[in-house]
This record gives sequence, C-alpha cells and structure tokens, in this order.
Amino acid sequence: MASTRRMELEHMSHYDRPDIPPRISHRHLSQGLAVITLVLVLTVTLQVNDFLGKRPGLPWLQLVAMIGSLLLMTPLLFSLTKRSSLSASPPFWFAAHVLASMAGFVFVSLHVAAGRLLSMPGILYVLLLFLIYQGIVARVFLSRQFSRQFGSREASFTLTTTTTRHELAGIIAAKTHLLKSLDPQADEALFSPNLKHAAAHPLLTLNYARLAARESRLVGARRRAGRALSLWRRLHILVALLFVFGIVVHVLTVIFFAGYVAGDDAIYWWHLATWGGHT
Ligand code: HEM
Repeated sequence: MASTRRMELEHMSHYDRPDIPPRISHRHLSQGLAVITLVLVLTVTLQVNDFLGKRPGLPWLQLVAMIGSLLLMTPLLFSLTKRSSLSASPPFWFAAHVLASMAGFVFVSLHVAAGRLLSMPGILYVLLLFLIYQGIVARVFLSRQFSRQFGSREASFTLTTTTTRHELAGIIAAKTHLLKSLDPQADEALFSPNLKHAAAHPLLTLNYARLAARESRLVGARRRAGRALSLWRRLHILVALLFVFGIVVHVLTVIFFAGYVAGDDAIYWWHLATWGGHT
C-alpha cells in the first residue's frame, strides 16, 4: 500500500509533462463535431436518394477513397511517433491526426455516399464514426486531464485533478509532521500505528489513522478513475485496429478479388486481378 502510493506520486510528475497537451481548443473541437455530424447527414441523404449513383468504385471516387484512407492513417503515425522519440513535437502530431482524420472522413464519406451503407464495407464506415465521435467526446466533454491521458501512453492511474494531488501531498506532509512526535524513527511510507502508539499518544494516533484513511480513499478513487480511462482508451485502440484491418481487407478484395466483388455485374473499377469471379 505504501509502496503503491510512492509509485503514484512518482507518476504524478509524468502527468505534468509539457510535451503531451493537445493544442486544440474545445471550441474548435465542438465545431469539428458539428462538421462531422453535418457530413454524416449529407452522406446518408446523398446515399438514400441515390444522388451519386451506385458506383463507389468509379475512378474519381476510388481516388477519393484512397486519399481519404491515407489521411485516416495519420492517427497511426501519431501513435507511432508518440511511442518513439522520433518526433520532437507530439502536440503537432496530435493536431495533425485530428485534422487529417476529419479531412479523411470527408473524402471517405463521398466514396461511401455512392455505395450502400448496409454492406460489409459499410461496417468500416460505422467503425470510423465510432472512432471519431469517441475521440471527440474524450476531448470535449471529459476533463482536460482525461484527454491528456487519452493522448498519452501511460494507462495507469495518473488521472487526477490538481486538487486531489494537492490534497494527497498535504496529507503526506501532515502525516510526516505527526510522525515526528509519534515515532521519530519510523518511515512515513511504511509506518502504521499500533497499540503501543495508541497508549502513549492517543490523540496523535487517532489523527494519524484518520489521515491514513483519507489518503487511501483518495488513492482508491484515483485508481478507479484510472481504470475507467484505460478501458476507454483500450476500446479506442481495439476499434482502430479493427478499422485498419478492415480497410486492408476491403482494398485487397476490390483490387485482387474484383471478380468476386462484382459477382454477376461488370467490374467497372481499377483492379489488378479478377480472382474469385465466375469463369
Ligand atoms: C475508410 C475507408 C473506406 C470505407 C469506409 C469504404 C466503404 C465502402 C462502401 C460502403 C462501399 C459500398 C459497398 C457496396 O455498395 O456494396 C465501397 C465500395 C468500394 N470501395 Fe470502398 N471504402 C473505403 C476505402 C476504399 C479504398 C481505399 C478503396 C481503393 C481501392 C476502395 C474501393 C472501393 C471500390 C472499388 C468499391 C466498389 C465495389 C462495388 O461497386 O461493388 N474503398 N467502399
């Protein structure tokens, strides 16, 4: 328990790292949310009214899909640069990943608007929507600490408010102070009062026990918040991986298994092989 607390205190300094804070204001992200929703409504409207025809693989739409998909890969780059020391400026990559994802979404939406949403690749679009909305929700509606954590690699319990941190520091200072009279030889991180202390200094012992109880309540709350956060983050990463895998499968099937994708219809898009088609 004492050593866990020590570890947490060490983590707190990481938490203040100046390299992580994303430099995108809440206002901009709320505007982003509005744009994404507008694009989504437009996509569904165009699609339902069959405005672009049912030809998502037309050369220009295929090109649009490719550009969009490449732009959507920047989050992957962001994630890699964050994990390596390749980039001197993680905030730049954070901003780039948000902006590029949004642009990518607009491009891909155009491609999707020409196809059927209720299809296998349509699921990809749903995954993409989930990722974008989840990312924005983390940044706009949850605390700044949360999003900082969301954009950082530490999945442990670094999530906390400044008040909690100060409160914990205060408790430890008070405990250390009490300990000087209670048991001058003892180490605050390892000490727990026993009957001998209670008999010699009943009031000090009671105060110390009260402080220790408050400390463990705070630490517990922090840990619970940390767990929820790391679950949320893991879900984001899992869906992102599914999405990337889905794009790879989709692109490989339309390019190499064009015959299979087209079925009885003609292959009208750029492709390299017609595997899987009727002979
Ligand atoms: C996030 C990326 C993408 C999403 C969400 C997506 C989604 C879709 C959807 C919903 C369809 C319509 C399926 C149907 O109507 O049955 C479709 C068709 C198609 N996509 Fe994509 N796509 C993406 C990326 C790409 C890329 C990068 C290419 C480039 C190779 C591509 C090539 C095609 C082609 C050729 C078709 C036409 C297939 C047909 O007409 O049956 N897509 N895509």
